Amino acid sequence: MRTTVGIIGAGPAGLLLARLLHRAGIDSVVLESRDRAYVERRQRAGILEQGTVDVLREAGAAARMDREGLPHDGIELRFARRRHRVDFPALTGGRSVTVYAQTEVCKDLIALQLAEGGPLLFEAEALAVEGAESENPRVHFRHQGREDTLHCDYVVGCDGFWGVARTAMPEALSRVYERTYPYGWLGILADVPPSHDELVYARHDRGFALLSMRSPTVTRAYLQVPDGTDAADWTDDEIWDELDRRLETDDAWRLARGPVTAKSVTPMRSYVHEPMRHGRLFLAGDAAHIVPPTGAKGLNLAVGDVVTFARALVAYREKGDASRLDAYSDTCLRRVWQAERFSYAMTTMLHRAPDATPFDDRIQLARLDRITTARSAETDLAESYTGFPLD
Ligand code: APR
Ligand code: PHB
Repeated sequence: MRTTVGIIGAGPAGLLLARLLHRAGIDSVVLESRDRAYVERRQRAGILEQGTVDVLREAGAAARMDREGLPHDGIELRFARRRHRVDFPALTGGRSVTVYAQTEVCKDLIALQLAEGGPLLFEAEALAVEGAESENPRVHFRHQGREDTLHCDYVVGCDGFWGVARTAMPEALSRVYERTYPYGWLGILADVPPSHDELVYARHDRGFALLSMRSPTVTRAYLQVPDGTDAADWTDDEIWDELDRRLETDDAWRLARGPVTAKSVTPMRSYVHEPMRHGRLFLAGDAAHIVPPTGAKGLNLAVGDVVTFARALVAYREKGDASRLDAYSDTCLRRVWQAERFSYAMTTMLHRAPDATPFDDRIQLARLDRITTARSAETDLAESYTGFPLD
């Protein structure tokens, strides 16, 4: 098998890349190790930055998002039983975000790819990438029990944190920057309308809580839990009781409860692999970097990477200008590190570490107080949350 761009992984990064290349008249093949149902059901965050929304529209992949996505002009911060709304458009000159689940972004892109795009092979597991330094890199893969080779001009590893593409980077060139956190998130989906019309990020002495949503009738909520927690350790009532405690306010706000339809625990990690390119092998999305979910940046960073790659490849093919391909890693890493900084800041401001001292508590409250009283601090949060420019 032969193609211009071999794409490993059909998460949001690989699927959007295939779509962008197709629109630019560049052929690609997507190899995905899982089956379609698995990819379409995997629960992830669902906050689309303005730039992500714009890219999906330009890619002709926004019809359902424009109908069903919920535009959000702010978030609420809760701490010390107080509520503070951060007004995005007022602070950023009109920017906002859209709530539209990652599962739905993937479903839309898969349907378009199968209808209009190049091959998208499910249950096709990439085994190894070879020849990154040559003119014709190759991906060895297994599909329907048979081993095969995909010959490419470029390979883009969009295969997530556990993929194989990163392992093809020479060890002597690779640098890893990493931090783990001594807590995770217990997340639920519940059939009950969200109790607030915007997302609520709460800092509490018992730990962080987040009230989010998937639609006007489905609540998504998270609780900070100790590392190693099993979701089955928590009954539905215990989860609602704990959300009630951590989201408590001094006013009449109340949390509505409903049947819990899904429950899972996500670990928290910050991770960056540098560089993001070696020869004709490029890494994009979770294959190169992970952020803790507190800043809702994972999907948006993946989008940024593949937009940078697609634009760079188009510039090379249309104008013979390789400078943007050469700058791929530096261009992406600059944006990645801003997202790492923001996600780390949000995480450490809102979560209670197991060894937190009273001093640490006071610093967290002072950081929150600063955001609610200094426009410069609040603007920094609003600009970071709504997103960094794509180039
Ligand atoms: N061969 C083929 N496919 C693979 C392989 C392999 N060896 N290894 C992994 N994959 C597939 C996975 O099954 C998955 O579908 O690669 C895909 C990677 O997708 P994601 O993990 O969703 O990563 P990405 O597309 O970069 O999207 C980033 O995911 O983790 C979230 O919060 C993060 O929203 C962000 C988004
Ligand atoms: C979610 O709705 O799943 C979600 C929202 C915001 C976050 C993380 C997750 O910061």
